[in-house]
Amino acid sequence: MGKIFAIVNQNGGVGKTTTTSYLAKAFTAKQKKVLIIDLDPLSSLSSNYDFSSLGTKSLTECMEGRATLNECIFAVEENQLFMALGGKCLIGFEIAAIYSPNREKVLSTLLSSIKGNYDYILIDTPSSLGLLSMNALTAADEVIIPLRCDVRIFEGMAELLRTINDVNNTLNPQLTIAGFLVTHVNRELRSTPVNLKEIHTCYGNKVFQTLIPNNEDLLVYYKQFATELSA
Ligand SMILES: Nc1ncnc2c1ncn2[C@@H]1O[C@H](COP(=O)(O)OP(=O)(O)OP(=O)(O)O)[C@@H](O)[C@H]1O
Ligand SMILES: [Mg+2]
Repeated sequence: MGKIFAIVNQNGGVGKTTTTSYLAKAFTAKQKKVLIIDLDPLSSLSSNYDFSSLGTKSLTECMEGRATLNECIFAVEENQLFMALGGKCLIGFEIAAIYSPNREKVLSTLLSSIKGNYDYILIDTPSSLGLLSMNALTAADEVIIPLRCDVRIFEGMAELLRTINDVNNTLNPQLTIAGFLVTHVNRELRSTPVNLKEIHTCYGNKVFQTLIPNNEDLLVYYKQFATELSA
């Protein structure tokens, strides 16, 4: 049975999309079959693709009941890496679904039927804790929280952890925090050891040992992270 990871942090630019993309590559390098779900209306992942030329539907159409999930999924690497993209129209889903009683469970219901077809499903989320991130948390088995190693590390963390706790108590009792992934680690900055120490003081053994550096060959580090995640 596949495992679903949601990559969540409502702060922008912390490395959610980078983590989704490189972790997918790292898993496929281990011969794992991976599906990326792009739930960010402004995502750079989606902007690389054009639905009409792909011949696939958008995830938004699927979440609004106008397409099946299989019509949205396309292969990036044959038999290995697949994607379903929401695109800008996902903003419309947040608005259209606002009065729907099962609005947070739409993605979870869709993924439950295909979960067994993949080793890992990675959900990239927007920089907000709105309905799309709620759908990701409701569908996920585990949450990966990227934390950018700078002065604003803890900004919004209380709110994020409260939201995860709420989802855990209501919509998704199986949800767990896989851990905190520290990104943009610049060893040359004097503040870095201080920031890392604070992160460990706050989150202890929930901090992944893998540290993602700034501006290096990221795939090497995400391969190490993939190994740590699957251990
Ligand atoms: N480890 C890294 N080293 C250098 N640059 C990075 C690293 N991780 C991410 N970046 C760059 O930082 C920017 C923000 O990263 P990314 O898009 O992954 O963040 P995000 O959390 O998805 O942001 P948003 O909330 O806006 O979607 C991008 O330009 C990305 O290429
Ligand atoms: Mg992003």
